[in-house]
Amino acid sequence: MGVQPHPYAVHRSWDREYRVIARTEGIYLYDTEGRRYIDATGGSSVVVTIGHGVMEVVDAMYEQAKAFSFYPAHAFSNQPFRELSELLVKLAPGAMRDNAKVWVTCTGTDAVDDAVRLARQYWVEKGVPSKYLVVGRWQAFHGNNIAVAGFSGITQRRSIFQPMFVDMPHIPPAYCYRCYFELSYPACRLKCARSLESIIRQVGPEYIAAFIAEPVVGAALGAVPAPPGYFQLIREICDRYNVLFIADEVMTGLGRTGKMWGIEHWDDVTPDIIATAKGITSGYTPLSAIIARNEVWQPLIDHNSPFKAGHTLNANAVSCVGVIAVIRYLQKHGLVERCAEIGKYMLERLDTLRQHAIIGDVRGLGLMVGFEMVRDKATKEPFPPQMGMARKLEEEAFQRGLITYPCGGNVDGYAGDAILLAPPLIITREQVDEIVDILHESIAALEKQLL
Ligand SMILES: Cc1ncc(COP(=O)(O)O)c(C=O)c1O
Repeated sequence: MGVQPHPYAVHRSWDREYRVIARTEGIYLYDTEGRRYIDATGGSSVVVTIGHGVMEVVDAMYEQAKAFSFYPAHAFSNQPFRELSELLVKLAPGAMRDNAKVWVTCTGTDAVDDAVRLARQYWVEKGVPSKYLVVGRWQAFHGNNIAVAGFSGITQRRSIFQPMFVDMPHIPPAYCYRCYFELSYPACRLKCARSLESIIRQVGPEYIAAFIAEPVVGAALGAVPAPPGYFQLIREICDRYNVLFIADEVMTGLGRTGKMWGIEHWDDVTPDIIATAKGITSGYTPLSAIIARNEVWQPLIDHNSPFKAGHTLNANAVSCVGVIAVIRYLQKHGLVERCAEIGKYMLERLDTLRQHAIIGDVRGLGLMVGFEMVRDKATKEPFPPQMGMARKLEEEAFQRGLITYPCGGNVDGYAGDAILLAPPLIITREQVDEIVDILHESIAALEKQLL
């Protein structure tokens, strides 16, 4: 008999037995049967930065809940919301630092949707209402609502909703291992970035409101950072054509890549708007935010025009307190610097996976790292999607107590298998070694099945 889905609770997959989680601590979680797992994914999807079970975060939230937990920000302000906003403005990258305002909402998708709303409203208030399109990139993921699917680039998560959203222009990803133009860096002169200019010119700059990108592509590609110079060129093109640049830092935000923000790896580049969520919460509470330069808010202020966005639970005081505590913990324990150092070590150790016939590429930045599986290393031919290789490897690792994040469709939306890893930033070298040993064993077991 196959797996029976739960009679009441809907989990995403019907054919999978979901273990029940009992408790978490550091980089580990334990199920109700006492099994231990290494969380090599920071809460399954690149969330947990400071580690699981940090009681000072929990205690801070508890104290706030005792005073009051909720009153909507559209009716009353609250001090934790104000404090968190100030903290984020002081941590913002480049020219945004001390020159931005923060809007706090609930999920990463809300933040991205609101970033795009702000971009649109900015142009309307500026008297350029023709600007409404958001250029995205193929093999990018920006969230799970119908509108966001229009500029997200994960085919499998958008295709059935196609008739329901405004389809937005897409450019190819910055993906050197599988360059869309079959060029090599740096001789390519960053054709992938220059393709933004081509599409803006072809569609017409008068229609383009914003360009959105993840500094390091997570869910759709498995930890692929853009090459050096990429975002400088993107910034130049956006400025030339009056297009706002939105950095989706939902995964990369706050320490994950070895710098506070992923975009800081590209010198002198400041986005106009940042969407941030997972990393700032470390998973303790649902919260997300957009940070936007003062210049972007100004036309709304000038016209006394309320920001046309908002959810009832925005700026929840308990969540704001939790996120402040997470950020303070990150700073107190120097976890961003630690991430840069351990991330380098992890990437070096992961590089040893290349000895397996099915591992074609290893990449990443800080503790957002990954590798790609191929049928043929020389030609980079992917496995047929129906083989579900990333899922199979995830299962092999899971059986050995290791949680990984399988990514599919990185080649063309359907084919392609990659594994994304993003352990909490508190991980030690010994724990990295353990992860890499389990991966070697799991890959070897999978290779055996292919014989
Ligand atoms: C880059 C990026 N943006 C946005 C989102 C959406 O965030 P959420 O799942 O919190 O809605 C995700 C989620 O994986 C993401 O990776």
